[in-house]
Amino acid sequence: METLQEPAVASAAAPALAEPLVSVRKLTMAFGPQVIQRDLDFDILPGEVLAIAGGSGCGKSTLLRHLIGLQAPAAGQVLYGDRDLYAADAAEQRKLMQTFGVTFQAGALWSSMTVGENVMLPMQLFTDMGPEQCEHEARFKLALVGLGGSFDAEPATLSGGMKKRAAIARALALNPPLVFLDEPSAGLDPLASAHLDELILHLRNNLNTTVVMVSHELESIFTVADRLLFLDAESKTMTALGPPHELRHSGPEGVQTFLRRGATTAQEITA
Ligand SMILES: Nc1ncnc2c1ncn2[C@@H]1O[C@H](COP(=O)(O)OP(=O)(O)OP(=O)(O)O)[C@@H](O)[C@H]1O
Ligand SMILES: [Mg+2]
Repeated sequence: METLQEPAVASAAAPALAEPLVSVRKLTMAFGPQVIQRDLDFDILPGEVLAIAGGSGCGKSTLLRHLIGLQAPAAGQVLYGDRDLYAADAAEQRKLMQTFGVTFQAGALWSSMTVGENVMLPMQLFTDMGPEQCEHEARFKLALVGLGGSFDAEPATLSGGMKKRAAIARALALNPPLVFLDEPSAGLDPLASAHLDELILHLRNNLNTTVVMVSHELESIFTVADRLLFLDAESKTMTALGPPHELRHSGPEGVQTFLRRGATTAQEITA
């Protein structure tokens, strides 16, 4: 007797698109009555490097603060999966905030602690790892960013590039699937900047880390970014989202101008 076979729908079906790690919906950011950006709508996709660019003062760092739970939206939502970061209770918010690492624009290592102590701090605060395990893990993270010999160094003795790398090692302390980096290569010499780009690519390619990076360094954007989100200072909203190589040729005029010559101020972009 013949048995009916199930049609092979599973293999014939289109591959499921990866769920976004973070979805930003109709986000308006403001300080009191002063709107900085409005109607931001984009996803952060797993495994991508997403660069955020735009003229100086257009709201890039402010957007990062919204993404990491430090500044509540004037309107709209920041969703981690289906959880609204700002509607979550304190316990859930704390849990969501442990799923990402952050480096701030100014670097911000604790100067009263050694580099190693800086990297161990999140482990001591948020895990039950013992001291030896913390040290082992911190040394591993420092080696990953090329600072294997700096565990006992004081932050003040590090160069600008080394401080940025140490801050990234600390952001990686809890092995987050997602990191936010604010201007990681600003102020670095070209060699240090290129090393940082290599590190970011290593994070994405080998550790499958999703990276959201504010940057106005064209070299860096074209080397590491899968997509670029452009915030426009004049219209106070996003004007482009896509692969930088494509936007360079087919993006809005201001974005093309930025990507062709690296204009960083609103005046230059609209000139
Ligand atoms: N705490 C604050 N109170 C009021 N306004 C602020 C505050 N922080 C930032 N701003 C304003 O918000 C706007 C966006 O600032 P933000 O630092 O996000 O810009 P940015 O794009 O990161 O600039 P840059 O390229 O210089 O780093 C600026 O006009 C700034 O003056
Ligand atoms: Mg900034």
